[in-house]
Amino acid sequence: MSGAGPAVAVTACLAAVGLLGGCGGQSDPLAKRAERGHDLIVTNGCGSCHRIGGVERANGDVGPSLTEFQSKPQIAGRLPNNPDEVVRWLLNPQAIDPPTLMPNLGLTPEQARDIANYLYTQ
Ligand code: HEC
Repeated sequence: MSGAGPAVAVTACLAAVGLLGGCGGQSDPLAKRAERGHDLIVTNGCGSCHRIGGVERANGDVGPSLTEFQSKPQIAGRLPNNPDEVVRWLLNPQAIDPPTLMPNLGLTPEQARDIANYLYTQ
């Protein structure tokens, strides 16, 4: 009755609540969403500005590295790092930090959720 297994599962499940509104049960499993998020990261060129684990050629240095994203206490130095705030940031960075160099990429809320899901796997 020891080991980190169950605790890790609970943490992942809490993250899932923020992203999906539930644990399991919803239409798409987390892995599927993360896979879509990976593809959206590629097609939106996030890697030209960010280093992102598991994404080929994502080696930009304009913005902070997004590798080991889940261990960051804050996003953009202003928001607590949790799934809802990441989605908020992705949908409209200027609303949070007007002079930021991060462009508004015109993502839909669904796409932003998929991307956030992927980032938490890295
Ligand atoms: C033109 C360059 C550029 C592009 C393209 C870009 N970003 Fe950013 N991003 C930035 C910069 C610069 C920051 C730092 C913003 C700040 O702190 O004000 C940032 C911040 C972030 C943060 C917060 C990171 C942290 O540690 O605070 C996330 C998450 C993020 N970007 C994700 C993405 C994703 C996902 C994409 C693609 C959909 C993307 N970015 C595309 C430049 C970019």
